[in-house]
Amino acid sequence: MQYNAVKGFKDILPGQMGAWNRIESEAKRIFEIFGFREIRIPILEKADLFIRGIGRETDVVSKEMYTFQDRKGTYLAMRPEATASVLRAYIEHKLYEGSSIQKLFTIGPMFRYERPQKGRRRQFHQINTEIIGDPGPRIDSELVYMIMMLFSSLKINDISLNINSLGCPKCREPFRIKLRDYLKDHYEELCPDCRRRMDTNPLRVFDCKVKTCNEVMEDAPVMLDFLCDDCSNHFHTFMSDLKGLNVDFVVNSHLMRGLDYYAKTTFEVQTRNLGAQNAIAGGGRYDGLIKELGGPDYPAIGFAIGMERIAELLNESGYQGKDTLDLFMIPLGKEAEDKVFIWLQKLRDAGIRCDMEYRSVGLKAQMKHADRLNAKKVFIVGEDELEKGKGILRDMATKEQIEISLTDPINEIISA
Ligand code: HAM
Repeated sequence: MQYNAVKGFKDILPGQMGAWNRIESEAKRIFEIFGFREIRIPILEKADLFIRGIGRETDVVSKEMYTFQDRKGTYLAMRPEATASVLRAYIEHKLYEGSSIQKLFTIGPMFRYERPQKGRRRQFHQINTEIIGDPGPRIDSELVYMIMMLFSSLKINDISLNINSLGCPKCREPFRIKLRDYLKDHYEELCPDCRRRMDTNPLRVFDCKVKTCNEVMEDAPVMLDFLCDDCSNHFHTFMSDLKGLNVDFVVNSHLMRGLDYYAKTTFEVQTRNLGAQNAIAGGGRYDGLIKELGGPDYPAIGFAIGMERIAELLNESGYQGKDTLDLFMIPLGKEAEDKVFIWLQKLRDAGIRCDMEYRSVGLKAQMKHADRLNAKKVFIVGEDELEKGKGILRDMATKEQIEISLTDPINEIISA
């Protein structure tokens, strides 16, 4: 019996890891410049954390969560996102006592039972940041600036930044009433889910994927027309700061973001190069959520980047990464093998990425192996070379060869 990975769960193979490592290291480098600190949180949480945090009516909670009961009957969920977990940790460990502003990031797998397709998996990975304690709007534009800086350093250019404001509970209530009235007028055109959502959570109708519902929403009232003075000023300052920072954006009044916790600023970065799953990052402000989860009434904002989608963009642009060897050692014959084996370890002591084959195969097979490992150079030592006291160092790309004295080849190889 052959086992395959579970549907929607994928292996990331060695040849793909270069792009993944580059994304992670570049994100860490940039986040540290902006004063972020890393936090690691568990994959399992009590399911209720997400039901309360993300919202019962969202697709993520109502259709996509991996939940189960453990042996004691506790209802658990594999995290579908990181924000609620980070906040749980923030509250549980009273991180607010240390500093009034916390900038946190975390990287890891998330789980959503969605229909798998290009750019959409059931296990996927996010780079997630949260800034807790700053009411904005200045920090909102700084956060967006940071994402754009990361994408530009990864040379991901063909992207557009969509922004919107979802208002605050004060101005959202009149909007919700207006939207519900509008939906009532279009009751017959709505799918059964949206007929229910119309009463429980009408904003979620914007996320519905059914065509007739989308058509209804084209002319629906939008939150931007209902913002109170405070939310409107917040949004305008956010936009003028983005302009000041030369960050291009599009105001998209239909951007609802699929999770219930957002308020005021929301944003999504989209690419034209991935087909239907075009969102490569999304986030926004979620003032009120920390209190809702039992913590202090602190404002916060964050975003998450989908790593699969970024890795795919990098791989499509031909990114090779560091999946190479500096040197592959090719001894021919027992005497050469004994010597090369010792030199190999000494080169590794000196930090050279190198390898050799212990199965005593011929030159052709070893050259093929070197090629498969993307070795930049090979060092060949056969009987003739031992006799002459000189090995051959060959550059695999240029095919140039130089001789290296076998008396002390380590330093010569390193400086060649
Ligand atoms: P989200 O929009 O649900 O936001 O996810 C963020 C990103 O994760 C998406 O833009 C996409 O790139 C990626 N993503 C989501 N689902 C999948 C999937 N099934 N397969 C592959 N990639 C996927 C959040 O999760 C919020 N917690 C972001 C946030 C942080 N807001 C505030 N702080």
